[in-house]
Amino acid sequence: MKRILRGIFYAFGPRARRVVRRITFAPMDLLSLLRHGGRPRYNGIPLPLPGEIFTGGGDFLENGLIFKAYFQTLGGLQPQETVLDIGSGLGRMAIPLTDFLTAPAEYHGFDVVASAVDDCRQRISMRFPQFHFQHVSLVNDLYTLEGASADRFSFPYSENQFDFAWATSVFTHMERAEVQNYLREARRVLKPGGRFLATFFLTDEEALSCAKGSAYEFNVQRGEDWYMDAEVKGANVGFTPENLKRWAEEAGWTETRIHLGRWSGRSGQTTDFQDIVVFS
Ligand SMILES: C[S@@+](CC[C@H](N)C(=O)[O-])C[C@H]1O[C@@H](n2cnc3c(N)ncnc32)[C@H](O)[C@@H]1O
Repeated sequence: MKRILRGIFYAFGPRARRVVRRITFAPMDLLSLLRHGGRPRYNGIPLPLPGEIFTGGGDFLENGLIFKAYFQTLGGLQPQETVLDIGSGLGRMAIPLTDFLTAPAEYHGFDVVASAVDDCRQRISMRFPQFHFQHVSLVNDLYTLEGASADRFSFPYSENQFDFAWATSVFTHMERAEVQNYLREARRVLKPGGRFLATFFLTDEEALSCAKGSAYEFNVQRGEDWYMDAEVKGANVGFTPENLKRWAEEAGWTETRIHLGRWSGRSGQTTDFQDIVVFS
């Protein structure tokens, strides 16, 4: 059922999808406003309403707080470190860090959806000026149909600028040449000793077979990569762990640590929903 609804939803263009979402969730948004006497807040920052959250399901604040903990436990993030948020969305990762990062730390995030960047500037940067958000005009058929290809994009930052970077639920919507480029770019802008945490759908045989029949079944294969939707490529992409490790090595990363997720319904120990990979 979830897959059928997703298919109908993807038949709309990215902008129309955001409008459909707003309309569908309008009653829930109203309830949330009534219940909290306005928007719920974290550290004084108003949070987006369910209908505005085009960046994925689950509890927006709770997931941000969970990743704040992963950044420290899995990525070794320290309060004074300068960080890069690749695909910053609506600030799900940024908001919980506003009471963690301390001077001289800076936060920089970029995203392809201009309205999301404007929204983060209004809600977050106005209150926390050390948090910077930038729009980059790149195409991604799930999010925006305008812009250049991400496979040759150069991050708008200098070499060795950051201590720690992340891309949460971003490479799950990008194709292999784009991911390869972002792995190289992340390496370039991180200092020696920097760490990069990214989430993926790692489509090894076990994950593919466990996910069969579920909402996360990957059934479109192109070369060695897996897609969930035949038309909208950005609507979830999976790579094999072997390929990812090779691309990381080619990009200059010496260590790739994988923490498997529960998205496929696989057995054994898992950490989060998506697979988390830490490059160092
Ligand atoms: C599922 S959302 C996740 C947002 C955010 N990282 C989070 O965890 O809440 C994916 C985000 O990646 C952004 N995105 C897609 N392609 C991108 C690209 N090539 N470069 C940067 N951001 C991109 C989308 O606009 C969207 O905000």
